[in-house]
Amino acid sequence: MTRPADIDVRPITEAEFPDWNRALNTGFLQAPAIGDEQLRARRNQFVPGRLLGAFDGDRCVATFRSFAQELTAVGGAAVPADAVSNVTVSPTHRRRGLLTRMMAQDLAAAKERGDVVATLIAAEYPIYGRYGFGPATTMTEWTVDVPRAGLDPRWAAPEDGGRIDLVDGEDVRKLGPELHGRLRRAQPGAVSRAELWWQTRTGVLSMDGSAWREPFYAVYRSSAGEVEGMVSYRADDHWGDAKQPLNTATVDWLIGVTPAAERALWRYLCSIDWITTVRSGWRAPDDLLPHFLPDPRAARITTQADWLWVRILDVVRALEARTYDGSGALVLEVADRDRLTGGRWLLEASEAGASCTPTTRSADLVLGVGELAALWLGDESAVRLAALGRVREERAGAARVADALLRTSRRPWCPDMF
Ligand SMILES: CC(C)(COP(=O)(O)OP(=O)(O)OC[C@H]1O[C@@H](n2cnc3c(N)ncnc32)[C@H](O)[C@@H]1OP(=O)(O)O)[C@@H](O)C(=O)NCCC(=O)NCCS
Repeated sequence: MTRPADIDVRPITEAEFPDWNRALNTGFLQAPAIGDEQLRARRNQFVPGRLLGAFDGDRCVATFRSFAQELTAVGGAAVPADAVSNVTVSPTHRRRGLLTRMMAQDLAAAKERGDVVATLIAAEYPIYGRYGFGPATTMTEWTVDVPRAGLDPRWAAPEDGGRIDLVDGEDVRKLGPELHGRLRRAQPGAVSRAELWWQTRTGVLSMDGSAWREPFYAVYRSSAGEVEGMVSYRADDHWGDAKQPLNTATVDWLIGVTPAAERALWRYLCSIDWITTVRSGWRAPDDLLPHFLPDPRAARITTQADWLWVRILDVVRALEARTYDGSGALVLEVADRDRLTGGRWLLEASEAGASCTPTTRSADLVLGVGELAALWLGDESAVRLAALGRVREERAGAARVADALLRTSRRPWCPDMF
């Protein structure tokens, strides 16, 4: 076994990109061979300095990629984020500290660049807490039993005078980015999408080499003709023994920037002939979907899990970037084992804005940087974390004050996997 100190962890060169991709596929248990077309598509993600590899001799045995992203804070500000992805260590080299070394290099560089947070979607819960990440949004997936929902089978078009049209991939690439931009500005937890996102979702480029099967795309326009919603979905082909249709529509992604658009698109999906089941895809836990149905219990939760993990790199800028519905002051003692941020801060917040300044006042609440991340987007409760012993009240009632300041009336949502 090569000693860990003899394994080189460093940014890769462009010439090393094919080998790095073989290691990436290996770590994700995908066939290591990569076709030329796939490699060409992935090359769009090569940014010098942002792809790290670990090398045992000249063999790449670990991968790590980060890229520039914007994350929407509570209130709509776009915060610069270091998005982490493609994290793998080959099974021959696991548990020798390679992820720890790659993460330390990347977070130090992100801090140096001035990113406010780092973000990722965790394959497994126990991996990233040790690096100061906390689960900041939740993902819920529903399965709708359409016949049970109690919807009027004569439905033919949105009641509000809007309309739904089927469109093709070119329309999606034309209309989607602007629509998504509107969603993102209004949705805490949402992240920016590169042009590549739209290209891979419409079959222009393939990152995994699988054969492209075109989904259905539909657009909702309001009665004023405004594009307010869009959905991509697929259908299977399943018939029961008695020759009855039992097909499932699976939503790849659905954007609605108004409740009317969301209502119309879900109603549309539940009205397609032969479709008896609709799978919702990744939604926020307080999505309106169940309540668009006369019988909300027809929408059964089939997946619920932590989704976006956030690592705060700058407590001051993170807390000052978001808005607050109430007023109050709180002294937070934030522990950061890796010393990237942390310290004792006085947060003074009101609807007019917030300031976060270093203080010598005694702490009201003591918490880790990961717990602060879980609270920052408004999804988690300080009272709950105190009950679990994960935040400590130094002043009685401080967790309730934190909840009044930090929690939000709608839950944050990150629609994307990256
Ligand atoms: C997850 C993975 C990247 C970890 O890499 P690694 O180099 O083995 O991690 P390290 O050796 O730096 O581990 C650091 C610590 O995390 C722990 N850890 C790492 N992966 C873990 C996991 N999946 N579950 C629980 N603990 C884990 C280690 O035990 C170690 O703990 P310690 O500090 O108490 O000793 C690697 O196992 C892997 O590639 N897994 C398959 C692909 C994957 O899940 N990638 C993540 C995508 S988000």
